Order: sequence, then structure tokens, then C-alpha cells
Amino acid sequence: MKGISIKSQEEIELMREAGRILAITHEEMRKALKPGMTTYDIDKLGEEVIRSYHCEPSFLNYQGYPASVCVSVNDEVVHGIPHKEHFLDEGDIVSLDAGVIYKGYHSDAARTYGIGEIDDDAKKLIEVTRQSFFEGIKFAKAGNHLNDISAAIQKYAESFGFGVVRDLVGHGIGSHLHEDPEIPNFARKRKGILLQPGMTLAIEPMITEGSYEVVWLDDDWTVMTEDGGWAAHYENTIVITDGKPEILTLTEEEAAEAGYKVKTDKVMMHSNGKTIIVGGERGFMKLISDSETGKILGAHLMCERATDMISEFTSAMAGGLTVGEMAGVMRPHPTFNEAISELFETAKDGVSIHTAPQNR
Ligand code: MF3
Ligand code: CO
Repeated sequence: MKGISIKSQEEIELMREAGRILAITHEEMRKALKPGMTTYDIDKLGEEVIRSYHCEPSFLNYQGYPASVCVSVNDEVVHGIPHKEHFLDEGDIVSLDAGVIYKGYHSDAARTYGIGEIDDDAKKLIEVTRQSFFEGIKFAKAGNHLNDISAAIQKYAESFGFGVVRDLVGHGIGSHLHEDPEIPNFARKRKGILLQPGMTLAIEPMITEGSYEVVWLDDDWTVMTEDGGWAAHYENTIVITDGKPEILTLTEEEAAEAGYKVKTDKVMMHSNGKTIIVGGERGFMKLISDSETGKILGAHLMCERATDMISEFTSAMAGGLTVGEMAGVMRPHPTFNEAISELFETAKDGVSIHTAPQNR
């Protein structure tokens, strides 16, 4: 990749969706973690969640990587390969790193969790690693330099006596998993590039208990600490803006805890028995029914992108449901999604669809 790309609003929207699905994937993996399961089980679960959203796991086969999720335990830093024989024990810490491709656009995020009860040193390592990311992105703002982020991560992590891995770095991300620039987690003399709105970056501190030196296993992937100390990893995909960065790979709960907002468009639905109005931040859709039969006749879409619920609408329309029946099968969905094209594709003869331009 040559140069650093500035993403358009449309590209960011696709990355937002890739990020949302990845946040859900991490959440599902976190909930499943328990002593006795294998690293292979985690990989399979992660892959299953990603595919359930009709997305591709971006790590699978990336430069020959054989799994969808990197699962790195204890002194494994990153890129651990899942194995059916690798069982997790109470007291272990496990770093999960995964990527999602949605319509050609990538998201990338990592978390480290404890298995069952873990000791205080391990808890501290995990928490400092996570916080070092948030200390770094306080500087992730248009007009600052890349090095400001790196220096802040290093300063915070080292203030606890931890090591900052030098041999692996974060990266730009977009239509490729790895794009320019490289994003070290340690300060350099050069200021690094000037941050600009629309840059999308994967920032990923890899922090060690002891020395920051790492070694590669013979599997050509697994990165371990050289001294056998444990390591933690925390990563999110962010968008640079003029103010606080937007973090694409957090759940709403994670974002709230960290003082950030997730751009979800909560979708509201209203029905008076003849029409259904579905609306969110980015527009609304009105479905009209035949006054005698109640069957759905058509839809007015007042936005460029409709919603996640579109597949339910279209299948309901295809099935000739009435407005009342339809209201019964609908539920609020968390986000708007690219969908009008799907509606056009799936709409049956006799269903008229009128679109009006987006009003923002
Ligand atoms: N988050 C890691 C990275 O950005 C994950 C890459 S693992 C690989 O480099 F398998 F895809 F290479
Ligand atoms: Co990454």
C-alpha cells in the first residue's frame, strides 16, 4: 500500500458495520470463555459469529494464517494459532484478536481476558494494556502527529514497569487489513505523520510483564515473550476526526464505560394498523398497506440506506403479510444498514417502492 488513504463517509459506514459485527463477535467469545475449552473452540465460535453476519473473517488464510481468530495464551503475545489440544486452564490469560470484512472493508480488534479467577498481577497487566490504548487515543486527533499516540501508550505502560513490544506495531486499515501508516506503541524521534480526519487506524498495544523482547515459534506465527513473562493485547479500529476519535469496534457498553459513543442508529417503529413507520437518525421508511386487505403494498424510503430489518420486511412482503402481522414480527434493530438495493432486489411484482433523497 502506498500512502495513507482518507476514507469517504461511505467507506467509513462500511467499516462501522464491520466494526459493529466484530464487537459482537468479541462479546460472544468473551461470554463463552471458560476453563476446559480449547483455543480451537474459541476460533470456531468467532468464525461462526462472523459468518452469521454474512461477513468473512479477515485473518483466515491471510498470508497463510490458518484460523479466523488469533488466540494467544499467557506468554504468547500475539498470533497464537488455535489448537484442538490446547485447553484453557483457570488462571490463564488469553488474548483474542480477530478481523471482519464487510463488503470489502476491514475491522480489527483484540481483547485480553482472564480464564476464571486470575491473580492480581495478571489483572493489572490486562487493565494497564487496555488503558494504554485509551491514553494513546487521547492524542488521536486531526492536527496531532502519529508519534503523540505512540508516546502516550509507551509512557503509560512503562509507568507500571511493563514492557512495550517493539517488533510488532499497529497499522492503517480499510479495504486492506494492513495499510499505511505503521503505528508503533513506543515513541520515536520522528513526529510521524500528521493525523487527518478520515484516516482509519488499528491501534494495538502489546504489553509485557517483563522484557519487551519477543521470539517467534517454529510455526512461523506465534509470538512469545523471550523471558516467559506474560503479555496482553488490546486493539480497536478508530477513525480520526477533528475531535474525539470514533472507535468502531466497541460494544455500546464498552464505549459507555470508556466515555465514548458508538454511532448506532436506534430504529423506532410505529404502526397505526394501516401504515408502519420505521425511523432512525438517518432517515425513515413508511410501509403502506391496502386498506381492505391490509396487505403491504409498498414502501417509501426517506434515506439512502435503510435498515437491518430490511430482510424481515422483504420476506414479510414476499409472504403477503398484513401490516398487523408485520408489526408482530418486527423488532427494533440497532443500526441502519445498506439495504435499499436489497429491497429492490427482493421486492415482488406489485410492490411499489418510492425513494426520496436523504435529507441530511
Ligand atoms: N491484529 C493483528 C494485526 O493487525 C492480526 C493479524 S493476524 C493475521 O496484525 F493472521 F491476520 F496475520
Ligand atoms: Co491489527
